Amino acid sequence: MIKALQDFDVKNKTVLLRLDLNVPIVNGVLTDASRIERTIPTINFLLKKGAKVVILSHFGRPNGTTDPNLSLKKLVNFIEPMVNNRVVFLPTFDILKNKLAIEKGSFPSLFLLENARFMKGEEKNDPILSAELASLGDIFCNDAFSTSHRAHATTEGISRYLPSCAGFLIQEELKALSEALENPEKPVSAIVGGSKISTKLNVLKNLIGKVDFLIIGGAMANTLLLAKGKKIGKSLVENDMLEIAKEIMKIAKTAKCEIILPIDIVCAENLTEGIPSSSYNSDSCPDNMMILDAGIKSEAHIKNFLTKSKTLIWNGPLGAFEIRPFEKSTVNIAKYAAERTIDRKLVSIAGGGDTLSALKIASVDKKFSYISTAGGAFLEWLEGKSLPGIESLKKK
Ligand code: 3PG
Repeated sequence: MIKALQDFDVKNKTVLLRLDLNVPIVNGVLTDASRIERTIPTINFLLKKGAKVVILSHFGRPNGTTDPNLSLKKLVNFIEPMVNNRVVFLPTFDILKNKLAIEKGSFPSLFLLENARFMKGEEKNDPILSAELASLGDIFCNDAFSTSHRAHATTEGISRYLPSCAGFLIQEELKALSEALENPEKPVSAIVGGSKISTKLNVLKNLIGKVDFLIIGGAMANTLLLAKGKKIGKSLVENDMLEIAKEIMKIAKTAKCEIILPIDIVCAENLTEGIPSSSYNSDSCPDNMMILDAGIKSEAHIKNFLTKSKTLIWNGPLGAFEIRPFEKSTVNIAKYAAERTIDRKLVSIAGGGDTLSALKIASVDKKFSYISTAGGAFLEWLEGKSLPGIESLKKK
């Protein structure tokens, strides 16, 4: 059992709160605040209950060195208006200095420690660093689901030294994700897209045992089409994965999981915005062309499976959605899934950076039942792996 934040009496306590503030900032502009926004209920709850809150997070991948461009200081200005509270930035990792600064603060107050990945021990999950950090507080609360696949000092190590619990966002993510995969309303469809089978092999293997319909798109589907003996022209393909692709189709058959591949394809000579494209049956991509999207027959075919399904799990686009006009099948299927969700006929869960960008292009990112804040952690969850930052909360 994972302990929940609301099970703790946090009044006059110092809570070390792990968040994922690894948010996109382009030229000083926060282009997507959702990761921060979705942890505000946890911060507000703690402040309202009279706790001192010390936020811990990483930003980017500085690999144990200090990189001023990756400082968390710039986050202060974004967080303060969202919580309507002052944020005291702690620029140093000197534990005594930080202890003094935190002690000086009144209850409630909010602190933000500099980028945890500037410290050499963070990614090594160094026990000395974990114990030192733990000495700054009374309780550890993890609300960074999207970083929970990392066994780092601020995600896993600290929990060995303090009573630990899950914040509201992690609770919400775990509930939504387990409802979709462990205890879903059946039939279940999964859409898995993206460019490489090799990076999603374990996802496919795990999903085959759990879902009824496995809809595969993107360049991943090319490898499966070629393994089935179809002509794929000069499409992106992983030739070294052909045997594995055959194996996947065989396992799926035994597990009675239906694999759905494109039945028609949109092809062009190369991947360039606005390039002329044509549709072909999925066995006839011309030699000088590449598959860049699923066609309209495929869309209708996929919609049939979604109509039969009560649950949908989505990770990865169906085509080269970043370049027009190859976003069409992803956008149309996303719209259809959103419609069925609004009509309460489908529970739809999506996760992963590309998937969210695609849902935004389709203007349906607010219309799915649940959108995970996680990228890598969502994938590892789809692989059926346990996440160290979550497992560690079970021990306390
Ligand atoms: C993410 O953006 O997926 C998380 O913040 C984890 O980042 P990482 O892949 O650098 O560990």
